[in-house]
Amino acid sequence: MAVFNGRPVSLLGSGMYVPEKVLTNKDLEKIVDTNDEWIRTRTGIVERRVASDDQVTSDLAYLAALEALRSCSLSPKDLDMVIVATNTPDTIFPSVAAKVQGRLAATKAGASDIQSGCTSSVYALTYAAAGIASFLWERVLVIGAEVLTRLLNWEDRSTCVLFGDGAGAVVLGVSPDDKNRVISASLRSDGTKSDLIILPGGLVECPASVEMIEKKLHTIHMKGNDVFKFVNKELPPFLSEFCDESGLALDDVDWWIFHQANYRIVESVLRRLDVSMDKAILNVDKYGNTSSASVFLAFHEAKAEGKVKRGDKVVMVSFGSGMTYGATLIEV
Ligand code: ACO
Repeated sequence: MAVFNGRPVSLLGSGMYVPEKVLTNKDLEKIVDTNDEWIRTRTGIVERRVASDDQVTSDLAYLAALEALRSCSLSPKDLDMVIVATNTPDTIFPSVAAKVQGRLAATKAGASDIQSGCTSSVYALTYAAAGIASFLWERVLVIGAEVLTRLLNWEDRSTCVLFGDGAGAVVLGVSPDDKNRVISASLRSDGTKSDLIILPGGLVECPASVEMIEKKLHTIHMKGNDVFKFVNKELPPFLSEFCDESGLALDDVDWWIFHQANYRIVESVLRRLDVSMDKAILNVDKYGNTSSASVFLAFHEAKAEGKVKRGDKVVMVSFGSGMTYGATLIEV
């Protein structure tokens, strides 16, 4: 069953931060053998943000967190837990979450990172909601933050044009007016496809060595076509089942917030579900694929622009390395 039992949980506030530096498709033409036309038509991306040399993932996460806390007038001292969804932590340890918790002086909170590919955002949101629904926690800060551009092979045009940096954050808790309520969630994985998106080097399986770096194993490798096929095969039946378990028809969903990996993936999954693209929230054109940050960035912007309104049913959907996938239904 996908529906949350226990007490109602809501998104109390949201925030975002993206680095100032903009890298356009035209800029990329000077770096690799690519062109604006190819990137736009194959992905929908026009530009992406790039962290400055002195910025790390915890910096982006911290700034998004400040805005999220401000938006719901909460203090860091009100938090019981800080969860950061990331695939590009500053270091493997300490966690990004611990650094953010320390910097915020969220002195009553625990801290942990979640790493489940680009689905980390939906996973983290679900864990936070479950912890509050079961009375373990009162308020949880969930941040999706990535500095992917530092883990790219800038000579590999099949990956380096796709990704960007950014952070989105939400604060979860119990809302007196039930706004932005988390209704249901479902998390899945197919670990037999763990070879599709990998960053193989630098850890236990392939420790740091000169050879590892020469082979660029410390950067992201992706079988793009296979990812595309996987998502198109698995997501439509999963989303139909998810809506069914959540007690609503596909047509009842007002907005679909997909992980912003690629315009064409969103289009083809929605086509298979017979859902209009008008119901998709998209900002992949501005930020590219920001992995764990993407659904929170899109949610925050859609709320700020007034696109998503009170009473709307919003499904956040993500997929990524693992291969993991998952969805959450929010009733705004
Ligand atoms: N510029 C110009 N040409 C390019 C580029 C580029 N940046 N990249 C690849 N090409 C070329 C290829 O070399 C190939 O040329 P060839 O036909 O002469 O061999 C041609 O374009 C077609 O390449 P494909 O890989 O077949 O292109 P495709 O249409 O599949 O698009 C893409 C590639 C965009 C990666 C697509 O497969 C895709 O979106 N896959 C899903 C990836 C995804 O969503 N990943 C994110 C999920 S997980 C996560 O977020 C970490």
